Amino acid sequence: MLLRKKLIAGNWKMNRTSADAVQLVKDIVVVSGKEHNVDIVVCPPFTALESVARLLEGSVIKLGAQNMHPEASGAYTGEIAADMLRALFASYVILGHSERRSYFKETNAFINQKVLAALKSQLKPILCVGETLQERETRATLKIVQAQLEQGLQGVSREIATNVVIAYEPVWAIGTGKVATTAQAQEVHAFIRSLLATLFGDTVAQKIRILYGGSMKPANASELLAQRDIDGGLIGGASLEARSFLDLIQAAAAVK
Ligand code: PGA
Repeated sequence: MLLRKKLIAGNWKMNRTSADAVQLVKDIVVVSGKEHNVDIVVCPPFTALESVARLLEGSVIKLGAQNMHPEASGAYTGEIAADMLRALFASYVILGHSERRSYFKETNAFINQKVLAALKSQLKPILCVGETLQERETRATLKIVQAQLEQGLQGVSREIATNVVIAYEPVWAIGTGKVATTAQAQEVHAFIRSLLATLFGDTVAQKIRILYGGSMKPANASELLAQRDIDGGLIGGASLEARSFLDLIQAAAAVK
């Protein structure tokens, strides 16, 4: 038996109105709603969470959000708190995505506050880490990933660490069609696992899922998902179409 159940998460980003999201999720439920060997998560925009949640009732597919604010409530115009997401039956939340880090200047310290707030509200954070092209070219990849991971997980206790999911997303591979080679991805995933072992002990580290993200598609997924430390995918573009999302789920289910 696999130690870690594979997880395929769709990050819809700023795509789909509530009505369009309903159509997409209906198609996804029809084709993949009975897959028990893979954990499946869809992360629509905030405005579609409620309508999507309704359609996911009774299916194995879980709901996730794409961001949240660390405070529980208050004067934070335009922001959403963890309990608001829980009230809509979200069970995951993507945190520290590179688009949040670069366009909205989110720091590791701020992302860490969100991770802690998410866990406190029983939301499973999908903490994204990854280097830019320039950082890879200057051989800073592992240093950057280490800082993002260690600072992002500060204060997370060993007891709840298995509720965290890590997503390694090389920034140069996101939405570019340029996927990391399996060797490049596995190297960083194994490094992340070793850091998790230092933080939480080996038994816990072996249970934490580490997803790959960045131009993952049906055509390249099987090879990536077969790597020892790649436990699933965080999928952008290819999650916006039911057929390709299903193909990715099936690729994950086929890994022995
Ligand atoms: P992509 O996005 O699959 O479109 O590259 C992945 C992500 O940003 O999570």
